[in-house]
Amino acid sequence: MTDAPLVRVEHLTHVYPGSDGKKAVDDVSFEIKEGETFGLVGESGCGKTTTGRMLVRLLDITSGSVLFDGKDITSLRGKELLDYRRQAQIIFQDPYASLDPRKKVRDIIAEGIDIHHLAKDREDRDAQVSRLLASVGLRPEHLTRYPHEFSGGQRQRIGIARALATRPRFIVCDEPISALDVSIQAQVVNLLRSEQKARNLTYLFIAHDLSMVKYISSRVAVMYRGKIVETGPADAVYENPLHPYTKALISAIPLPDPENERTRKRIPYAPREQDLRGTLREVDDGHYVLGE
Ligand SMILES: Nc1ncnc2c1ncn2[C@@H]1O[C@H](COP(=O)(O)OP(=O)(O)O)[C@@H](O)[C@H]1O
Ligand SMILES: [Mg+2]
Repeated sequence: MTDAPLVRVEHLTHVYPGSDGKKAVDDVSFEIKEGETFGLVGESGCGKTTTGRMLVRLLDITSGSVLFDGKDITSLRGKELLDYRRQAQIIFQDPYASLDPRKKVRDIIAEGIDIHHLAKDREDRDAQVSRLLASVGLRPEHLTRYPHEFSGGQRQRIGIARALATRPRFIVCDEPISALDVSIQAQVVNLLRSEQKARNLTYLFIAHDLSMVKYISSRVAVMYRGKIVETGPADAVYENPLHPYTKALISAIPLPDPENERTRKRIPYAPREQDLRGTLREVDDGHYVLGE
């Protein structure tokens, strides 16, 4: 990991057409260093997916900018946009909806290889697909099967192989384990981590609760109603939350010890105007909070 930011997001905003000017993402700024996992958390509907999709340019950026490796990718088009999309991939939340049911696994994994012309010939394409399949823990006989023949965890492995196929530098992992059985969530997270190490990948890891994100991220940002309300080192945010929304979010995490869980106090969050006004201010080293 180096200190140079690979991804720099500045004042990013998105307004969906027909939403009366409501900002689904409202003036969001953060940086992700090369090789780092940056966690983005918050309840459903707060704007996480919208942010992630803008970062990989699957969704238009209404205002603000994204710099990738120092280059402004906010309004790239044509060949340059295609090249950016090769480098910036996404793994989707729903491993059922995100794989084309009519395609065999081989062709799903090869989607990016084909779009970006990354194979010399048929043989090279097959060899690349086979290597990817093995690296996500699937077997050669899986190549000719269809998505419906797989479990949720296996489908997410296919989605990961598809994302890795273009040899990206950056991957948005949009709640990649939320739809999976608790029993296999750790396996998929471990796969993402080992691939990250092996390929020096940079991740934006999106989740709705902080417990998993704390474990895999070096830094996190907490979103509420389209805004980042707190950001900082994962440990600091988790151990010493500053914003009332973050406190509520952490108090909602169940505790493993039954005795502690029985006496756990949940802090409700009642939004107050003054907690959501102004700009992020630094309270501790690299730890920022919103509010006046
Ligand atoms: N395609 C869309 N058209 C209009 N509004 C949308 C669309 N997708 C999401 N939204 C709205 O944008 C906000 C943020 O959504 P989203 O980014 O999906 O949140 P999250 O991923 O945190 O659950 C929500 O209010 C949601 O209803
Ligand atoms: Mg989402």
